[in-house]
Amino acid sequence: MKPIQFVHLTDTHMNAPDTEGPFAKLQLAEKVKHVFGHIQQSGLRPSFLLITGDLSHEGDTADYAYIRKLLDEGSETIGAPVYVVLGNHDHRSPFREGYLGETASEEPYYYTHMIDGLRLIGLNSQVPGAHNGTIDDRQLAWLAEQLRTPASRGTIVAVHHPLLTINGMPGDHSLTNRDALMDVLAGTDVIGMMAGHVHSNNVGTFRGILSVAAAGTAFGGELADAEHFRMFDACSYNVVTVDQDGVAVSTVTLPTSNAEFFRFPLKALAEQH
Ligand SMILES: [Fe+2]
Ligand SMILES: [Fe+2]
Repeated sequence: MKPIQFVHLTDTHMNAPDTEGPFAKLQLAEKVKHVFGHIQQSGLRPSFLLITGDLSHEGDTADYAYIRKLLDEGSETIGAPVYVVLGNHDHRSPFREGYLGETASEEPYYYTHMIDGLRLIGLNSQVPGAHNGTIDDRQLAWLAEQLRTPASRGTIVAVHHPLLTINGMPGDHSLTNRDALMDVLAGTDVIGMMAGHVHSNNVGTFRGILSVAAAGTAFGGELADAEHFRMFDACSYNVVTVDQDGVAVSTVTLPTSNAEFFRFPLKALAEQH
């Protein structure tokens, strides 16, 4: 059976070039352009590229229109479609208007696509105004319906908030209803959950299903000391290979300065919900 490969990016935190703000001035969209160029140069021919949320950093319609243009160009560069899900720093209405070219609405964004026999299901765990995430009941019912029919190469579920407890991340940064989600996934053809949000690579299993939180493409996050968390210059993407043996996740790291962007008390992080 021919292996299927896809690229997993997360937490791109992009803004349009002329936007003001502490994250916007870091020009994080440039990193995503570098990633597309790097993929092309590496000779990888992915079936698709997935971005698991925090596409923008508190973006407006103009930011999302810029992101769409950038990702369309990137898609052409690597010769593969790009699929996205929303993260807690994304906003539904400007995303629908600027990225999808639809009428602004607060409807959750979720979908299913079949690519080379592998099914990709994107879910909307982002809840307006919340830092953590939840898959609403309507999506859970829809997901159960989709999974009644298996795909020939299995299913990958993409969501922003991770399932696993993350080393060094205080507070509730995972899905609030991960058990309800896993009840739906039990006994189905799902071979992996792809997530982000925590800006560090975290790979494991949750109730026997591969659960990946990829490192951030825009910046990394880690414990600085016993009382502080820091965000620093970093850039990476994961290459996921699905073959007859299972699912393999390889991280590709691009060179950066590693300089610290922000540092804040763990207490503040623990209080975010
Ligand atoms: Fe993020
Ligand atoms: Fe996030």
